[in-house]
Amino acid sequence: MTAHYKVHGDVAVITLDNPPVNGLGLATRQGIADGMAMATADAAVKAIVITGAGKAFSGGADIKEFGSSKAMQEPNLNSVIGVLENSTKPVVGAIHTVAMGGGLELALGCHYRIVAPGSSIALPEVKLGLLPGAGGTQRLPRVLGVEPALNMIVSGEAIKSDMLAMLPGQKLFDKMAVSVESLAEEALAFARSVADARPLPRVRDLPCKHPQGDAYFQFARNMAKGMAKNFPAPAKCVDAVQAATKGKFEAGMAVEREIFINLMWTAESKSLRHLFLAERAASKIPDVPADTAQRAINSVAIIGAGTMGGGIAMNFLNAGVPVKMLEMKQEALDRGVATIRKNYEAQVKKGKLKQDKYEQRMALLSTTLSYDDLTGTDMVIEAVFEEIGVKEAVFKELDRVMKPGAILASNTSTLDVNKIASFTKRPEDVVGLHFFSPANVMKLLEVVRGEKTAKDVMATVMSVAKKIKKTAVVSGVCDGFIGNRMIEQYGRQGGFLLDEGCTPEQVDKAMEKFGMAMGPFRMGDLAGNDIGWAIRKRRATERAEMKYSKTADLLCEKGRFGQKTGAGWYDYVAGKRDAIPNAEVVQMIEDYRKAQGITPRKISDEEIVQRLVFALVNEAARILEDGIANKASDIDIVYIFGYGFPAHRGGPMNYADELGLFNVVQAMNRFAQNPLDDAKFWQPAPLLAKLAAEGKTFN
Ligand code: NAI
Repeated sequence: MTAHYKVHGDVAVITLDNPPVNGLGLATRQGIADGMAMATADAAVKAIVITGAGKAFSGGADIKEFGSSKAMQEPNLNSVIGVLENSTKPVVGAIHTVAMGGGLELALGCHYRIVAPGSSIALPEVKLGLLPGAGGTQRLPRVLGVEPALNMIVSGEAIKSDMLAMLPGQKLFDKMAVSVESLAEEALAFARSVADARPLPRVRDLPCKHPQGDAYFQFARNMAKGMAKNFPAPAKCVDAVQAATKGKFEAGMAVEREIFINLMWTAESKSLRHLFLAERAASKIPDVPADTAQRAINSVAIIGAGTMGGGIAMNFLNAGVPVKMLEMKQEALDRGVATIRKNYEAQVKKGKLKQDKYEQRMALLSTTLSYDDLTGTDMVIEAVFEEIGVKEAVFKELDRVMKPGAILASNTSTLDVNKIASFTKRPEDVVGLHFFSPANVMKLLEVVRGEKTAKDVMATVMSVAKKIKKTAVVSGVCDGFIGNRMIEQYGRQGGFLLDEGCTPEQVDKAMEKFGMAMGPFRMGDLAGNDIGWAIRKRRATERAEMKYSKTADLLCEKGRFGQKTGAGWYDYVAGKRDAIPNAEVVQMIEDYRKAQGITPRKISDEEIVQRLVFALVNEAARILEDGIANKASDIDIVYIFGYGFPAHRGGPMNYADELGLFNVVQAMNRFAQNPLDDAKFWQPAPLLAKLAAEGKTFN
């Protein structure tokens, strides 16, 4: 049972009980309808209270019903709300903790609402590319006024009940309860106080107007469009709220319904819903059950206080976990601590961090030059130079000093985690934690599972990731793991495009128009072109058969490493991030073409986008085949959270699915005909070829 019914004297109480957030799935909706029928039939019942058990009034629709016909099955949410609204006995919504989406819409169907302080109130549907589809766009403006309601609907952000209760003339809440604890008692008393009140107030009967009328809505629509860029939903929210001010309630509801259904079918909403589910699915590992016992992580040590070490440390300090940083020299420690301070001070200056919070965080940070100081620490993350010999020395020391059961993690971006584990006598405690730069900002964390990594280590680091607010994706061990293994192919295509006739600017512009946060050459300049150069040199012996454009090496030979040297594929002015095209670089590419005997051709933006994105897709299919990634949706998460892939396209795999894998394979076959490209690479991965032939998708 996901909704309970109980009579307290003359008041019936219907309690939603569908953990974790009382989602309004079919069984819960049915429970509410059944409770209403019993209360109506019982002559002793004079009023009805609806509330939620546990940690929410209701978080809204049940995500398990997403995309299935169950969501629409009767009694659907609109029908249940209709039952409340048309009840002949007063219905009181007793709201606490969370009332979001369908949960808030349900509350708006009640005759009265009593709310506990500190409750989060929101209509967040826009975040899934939708709008509230059970009357939210019609009822919220009637109780809050058009502007506050529209702001909530267009932003999807939660507002605390206390703030909303202060809005002049608001009719959302009839009463503020003293506390969450006293809400139940206060709701019963309130229900008794209105038991005989007639007529019963219905939100739908309230007037809805804006003094500036259509002019206001035109302004709001332009704002919403400007801010939403690639997403249609925010502007559509404006249309729906405007409809609430136009005619009869029912007419407005019809407009909301029609817009809702249209949005449901847009690629943007499908992408956002895919990501919503993908993000939740990413934390689940097939052979590591959710109830796997975890190790307690109450302190962390970090080896290396450089770029990554400092950023990683900040994540733990922000989460209230004490951090000890180790370096070989005091100067390096001082430099590391100073950088952390500088980062926090910038946040304080911008008003994003309070001074006392900053001090609390810094108080959690300590430093040492001696491994013997790390004995009591629960977890250590190594972020020293990317050289296997250095890693070996560090892990041997860690093996010597760390207590049994401590987790030993490496932030290596390219080295073999199994090899690193083999430097210790406890490979089961070793795992890769691949953070992205800047580590205190980027959401993605690749958790690299070694051959011998213990299951409880995996379970523990996944929940540590959550604690430090990262989105973690599990990767197997291979060169580059998921993200960088794919980006290599993407970068290689970028190079071929230069050889064949593009400028870096043309490629970047095309990719940015597609929606990438940054094109490949601007990204190279940001990350440092020397890093790729070093990797290519190392691989030259390992994978001599791999074909590359030589332009990136020529660029590095000129010392153009990117933003850090003020010059890369573009020029940079100190303190600014604007990429300024450089004629010398363009000339360098032209000279290279001439030397190779290549006649440049005009290349369309469509070809640029397809070659770069399909290179990601083909390599990703191989990554799936190799068992490096557990599922296609994990790869989408990696690309959206770590590489700036546009969210409205749902990640490379979702994008390929939407285009149709058959079409993707056709394009790859075409690219394979290009003598300047890599025909072998464009052989569709067997998994991709199979799915395409069967008319199936990755996700
Ligand atoms: P970095 O050069 O900024 O910092 C490395 C730090 O380690 C230096 O402060 C150095 O003094 C210290 N160190 C070197 N050997 C040591 C030893 N034996 N004991 C103690 N400290 C030692 O390098 P960065 O960029 O922070 O990279 C660190 C690791 O993170 C590398 O494995 C790298 O591949 C990986 N990584 C780097 C990313 C990046 O974008 N920079 C992204 C993801 C991973």
